[in-house]
Amino acid sequence: MNKTISGFSKLSKEEKINWIAGEYFSNPEEATAIIRNYWNSDAKLQKLHDDFIENTITNFYLPLGIAPNFLINGKSYTVPMAIEESSVVAAAAKAAKFWSERGGFKATVINTEKIGQVHFLYKGDAAKLERFFNENKTRFFEETESMTKNMQKRGGGILDIVLKDKTDLLPNYFQLHATFETKDSMGANFINSCLEQFAKTLKKEAQSFELFSEEEKNIQVVMSILSNYVPNCLVRVEVSCKVDDLKEKNSNPRDFAEKFVQAVQIAEVEPYRAVTHNKGIMNGIDAVVLATGNDFRAVEAGVHAYASKSGRYQSLSHAKIENDIFHFWMEVPLALGTVGGLTSLHPLVKLALEMLEKPSAQELMQIVAVVGLAQNFAALRSLTTTGIQEGHMKMHLGNIINQLEATDEERIKIVNHFEHHPVSHAAVVEYVNDLRKVKS
Ligand code: MEV
Repeated sequence: MNKTISGFSKLSKEEKINWIAGEYFSNPEEATAIIRNYWNSDAKLQKLHDDFIENTITNFYLPLGIAPNFLINGKSYTVPMAIEESSVVAAAAKAAKFWSERGGFKATVINTEKIGQVHFLYKGDAAKLERFFNENKTRFFEETESMTKNMQKRGGGILDIVLKDKTDLLPNYFQLHATFETKDSMGANFINSCLEQFAKTLKKEAQSFELFSEEEKNIQVVMSILSNYVPNCLVRVEVSCKVDDLKEKNSNPRDFAEKFVQAVQIAEVEPYRAVTHNKGIMNGIDAVVLATGNDFRAVEAGVHAYASKSGRYQSLSHAKIENDIFHFWMEVPLALGTVGGLTSLHPLVKLALEMLEKPSAQELMQIVAVVGLAQNFAALRSLTTTGIQEGHMKMHLGNIINQLEATDEERIKIVNHFEHHPVSHAAVVEYVNDLRKVKS
């Protein structure tokens, strides 16, 4: 059956749902009911969400959890996290509590520079292009003045523009490589608007540059776009304490610290491990990025590029024991905003930012990176001691119980039983079957 359709975006929401339900579902009424079930009863709120994207048919829920007890630079935070993976919030909260009792996290923003590029082709003498650029550099600033005025009032703007010759990589390929300070906004729209104006100025001024031949005047702009690789929009986060202070219950703190450092070193040298190690960090980072209405795809792309900056994919975090002190730290690039974008539109994003006491973008960088480090600490602590499955499966038990549609009575029995038995999907199914057999 041919399921293509033209003019879909012009259909009403109702018509879109009818089409999708009729085309793809064996039980269209049931599919429609599920879709409608997730609509918000407040029509205004629903319209707000409908308008975020094209072709909205319903809402897609993710849980919003909170992790209290994050002590960062002496200030306490309760951090909102939007994530579906069962163990992440619990692990973050546990690590936060652990470090709050050992001095908390230290966080420092190293730099906040963003990057954008105009990629263009120029067929001619590179020295002439260089001269053209130097003579016209001020024009790029002048012709973006209307765009940069407000940003400048807030202390930001265009930091610099340089011409880059990339012809060793691709014939005739040059760039205008621009750096920006966007203060509390992520700055994507600001940067892209400036870049598109640079491209216009570039083409226009080239036309009247006397030293250019006709061919040289004909600069071809390929594209103008910000870069999500922001190695100079960087935050450093760290924890440290005496090795003996790592002690918990019956653990041997030195053994723990040494094994922990070893685990980090493995992730520093072994890319297969580094990817999973960093994924654990991103569990924390993405959850806060998402809850605060920031672009997690941009953050993901930039962070993983940063993890490969040496030419080999490596762990983002590092650990050492020096003079009997355990140190654990990480630097990550994070281009975040606390104004603009979704931050003033999405009611839950507003709520999340208020919960964080309306942080600046720099403060948010610190919080997000700290949650990433905490998550990594929690994962490595489990991996190097009990193994990850114990905690994971405990947290996952709720999902299995829901899948099996357990009654309240069964739920209590299951939870009690698996307090003292290893959780696995098969074990829970077997236990529930036994319960139900006994009953029937
Ligand atoms: C699971 O979501 C994350 C971990 O695999 C991270 C890690 O292995 O460090 C537990």
